[in-house]
Amino acid sequence: MRIRANQPLAPVIRELARGDEATVEAVFAGLTPEQRWQRFHAAMPRLPLTVRRTLADVDGHDRVALVVELGERAIGIGRYTRIGAAVAEIALAVVAEHTGRGIGKALLEALVRRALQAGIEELVFEVIGTNSVALHLARSRGARLERTPWVVHGSLTLGVVPHTSPAA
Ligand SMILES: CC(C)(COP(=O)(O)OP(=O)(O)OC[C@H]1O[C@@H](n2cnc3c(N)ncnc32)[C@H](O)[C@@H]1OP(=O)(O)O)[C@@H](O)C(=O)NCCC(=O)NCCS
Repeated sequence: MRIRANQPLAPVIRELARGDEATVEAVFAGLTPEQRWQRFHAAMPRLPLTVRRTLADVDGHDRVALVVELGERAIGIGRYTRIGAAVAEIALAVVAEHTGRGIGKALLEALVRRALQAGIEELVFEVIGTNSVALHLARSRGARLERTPWVVHGSLTLGVVPHTSPAA
C-alpha cells in the first residue's frame, strides 16, 4: 500500500506490553513539569526507576495501560489499576505537544471500554483542584466529583451514558 507523504497520521490506541518501560519513559519525557505534577501529584524532574518499573508492570487484567501512538511515537498513556473486585483507579497523560486535540478524551473512552470488558463497574481518580482540563474531562464524562482542600476525588460509574446537551 502506498502512503501519500502529506497524508496526516491518525492516532492509534494499543495495549502496553508488559515490561515496556521505554514507552512509559517516552511519554513521561513529553510531559511538562506542570503536567508531571498533575499526573503524579509530586515534583518529578525524572521518572524514578521503581516508578517506571511499576508503571510498566501491567498484567492485562488488574493492571492495564493503553498507549496512544502517532506513527512510531507514543503520545499518551492511560491506565487503570484494580483496587477492588469491580473498582479500579485510573490515570492518564498526553504529551504537551498533542494536548487539546481530543486525545485525552479518546483515551478515557478506550479505558472505559477496556475496563467494562474486565468486569469493572466504577473508575475512581484523584485530580489536583487546579487541574481544570482534567476536571472538565471528568465532568463531561459524567463523573461525580468531591472537592477536598488539595485534591478532587472523582468517581465514574461505567455503563452510564454521559449527559450531552441536545443539539440546538
Ligand atoms: C488531562 C489530559 C490527559 C487531557 O488530555 P487532552 O488530550 O489535552 O484532552 P482533550 O483534548 O481530549 O480535551 C478534553 C476536554 O478538555 C478541553 N480542553 C483541553 N485542553 C484545554 C485547555 N487548555 N483549556 C480548556 N479546556 C481544554 C477540551 O476542549 C475537551 O473538552 P470538550 O470535549 O468539552 O471539548 C492532559 O491535559 C494531561 O496529560 N494532563 C497532565 C496529566 C493529568 O492531568 N492527568 C489527569 C490526572 S491523572
